[in-house]
Amino acid sequence: MSQSKKIQVRPDSGALGAEIGGVDLAQGLDDETVAAIRSALLEHLVIFFRDQDLTSAQYMVFAEKFGELSEYPMISGIEGYPKIIPVTKLEHETINFGGIWHSDTTYLENPPMGTMLLARELPPRGGDTLFANQYMAYETLSEGMRKMLDGLTGVNTSTLATASRTREDRLKDHPHQEGAREFSAEHPVVRRHPETGRKSLFVNVGHTERFKDMTVEESAPILNQLFRHQVQERFTCRFTWRPGSLVFWDNRAAQHNAINDYDGFRRIMHRITFAGDTPQS
Ligand code: SIN
Repeated sequence: MSQSKKIQVRPDSGALGAEIGGVDLAQGLDDETVAAIRSALLEHLVIFFRDQDLTSAQYMVFAEKFGELSEYPMISGIEGYPKIIPVTKLEHETINFGGIWHSDTTYLENPPMGTMLLARELPPRGGDTLFANQYMAYETLSEGMRKMLDGLTGVNTSTLATASRTREDRLKDHPHQEGAREFSAEHPVVRRHPETGRKSLFVNVGHTERFKDMTVEESAPILNQLFRHQVQERFTCRFTWRPGSLVFWDNRAAQHNAINDYDGFRRIMHRITFAGDTPQS
């Protein structure tokens, strides 16, 4: 029987997220199964796998089924695998990587299509990750606001203090040659998903500084309102990690936020990022 016939897709909350069961990612996946997983990703924006005992080599083979991989611009990969970066918080650290609502690296011209995260070491409790559906965030705005935002461009930067402090510890112990570089990119505030054709809100508090042709001060009232609006509980789901959990999110239509509630304990995740396109309105 094709593995795709055995796959179960169980939606996880009202807004987004589904757990995928009945598949062993360490086995080579056939094309039908890969297509079924991709279609679950497009429908649910973030998909969760449990109990996957993958070596780094197997993780790479699985990931490569879903697109071209890209390197993270500021942090080097783990030994032997430049495209797997460690997302780590150690016992003595108090700041966690990605501990703010964001879409990944929207300060690049081509932000990632998506990202995978595999749990390697977890704290005894805490360290969950939140996700938010940005189609819903767009669709629930008033018609007047949608019309106005449809024509706007956002300026995204790697230098906003709130986001950059979340990567400081990792820059120290896994420095990348581009670590000191500042990145900036302009993207439509409302982007059209290249595969589903749906519109989503594409600003985030981690990286969006202002609207193009406006000052930071002029942009702030509307941006701050959008930052609050886009992560309301009704648009979110929360994932509790277990050893062997693997998560794959669509960075074009979902945001995420790593909860920092496990001081004194270690959390180590392995992240793979997928090359993306230039966002279009
Ligand atoms: C990230 O933003 O890539 C980190 C997410 C997490 O650690 O849960």
